Amino acid sequence: MTGRGIVVRSCGMAVPDKVLTNDDLAATLDTSDAWIAERTGIRERRIGGTTSSLAAEAGRQALARAGLEPEDIDALVLATTTPDALVPATASTVQQLIGLPNVGAFDINSACSGFMFGLVVSAGLAAIGTDRILLVGADTLSRITDWDDRSLAVLVGDGAGAVVVEAVDGPGNLLSHNLHADGSLRHLLSCDIGGFLYMNGKEIFRSAVRVVVESADQALSEAGIGVEDIAMFVPHQANLRIIQAACQRLGIPEEKTAIVIDRYGNTSSASIPLALEDVVSAGRVSDGDLVLFSGFGGGMSWASAVLRWGA
Ligand code: UT7
Repeated sequence: MTGRGIVVRSCGMAVPDKVLTNDDLAATLDTSDAWIAERTGIRERRIGGTTSSLAAEAGRQALARAGLEPEDIDALVLATTTPDALVPATASTVQQLIGLPNVGAFDINSACSGFMFGLVVSAGLAAIGTDRILLVGADTLSRITDWDDRSLAVLVGDGAGAVVVEAVDGPGNLLSHNLHADGSLRHLLSCDIGGFLYMNGKEIFRSAVRVVVESADQALSEAGIGVEDIAMFVPHQANLRIIQAACQRLGIPEEKTAIVIDRYGNTSSASIPLALEDVVSAGRVSDGDLVLFSGFGGGMSWASAVLRWGA
């Protein structure tokens, strides 16, 4: 222990301009706006761009909102499951696009839980001496989606979200965290190199609600707080019904839940920071508020954390 914790100073986001509505999809697939909206909560999604370009745009916005310049950043952590290429790390491209100094820049792949893993890795970097970390979650799932497969095409969207994480003396604002993986369930959500995404939606649905509730409960209890102390719940946005089922079991009302799946679909590593940016920009989270995060996805991986908002 070095006695250094973290605060999150700001957030930013980026999505492509191109909007794809449910009706647009129904024009080419055997599906309907009613089915997609009722079964998933998705009404439209954004499609396009590259992971690095979206990540850089979100990162620049987070920097500007923190009143920082690129040279103020000491490390770049990029959570993505759709890198621009296998080599180099997409973080290298993002580093150049933003004009960061030659600081450590690397990718983390933990599918839809990636941002949560990145947050904990950032806290670890801060603890051992890194002062400011730009953490970005960015994905372009549209690039690994078979657009003739209605079971997946209706779910995915592209986007990026970013936060500036800063080290502080003392325990800081990350009150608790837990990270999990179960490789025996890796067949439920997969994509071979050069292939398309495959998902067993029903099985993931079943596991997702259980692991979100368990890990969120663990994060609350390790933070020494009750669910009533939470001002905002920021869950991974995979399906509105998963979010609602988890909220019901946790006892979290909808007005304390960040929901952007209607506008962006499932954006994987970007979904939690996009949802965070949405509630922060809307003034639904204030300095000092306790925010509960929970992510789950391919691996299977899942993770939760409690963060006190503000620097
Ligand atoms: O990001 C993390 C990982 N991903 C997830 O967490 C996703 C978890 N799973 C889900 O969100 C849901 O399981 C889905 C949205 C993927 C599917 O919803 P569901 O309620 O589980 O539907 P289902 O797979 O049981 O399918 C119900 C029916 C089937 O027809 P029959 O067999 O009842 O005649 C499907 O063929 O709906 C049909 N169907 C569709 N119909 C219209 C499946 N996809 C579609 C579609 N449009 N796009």
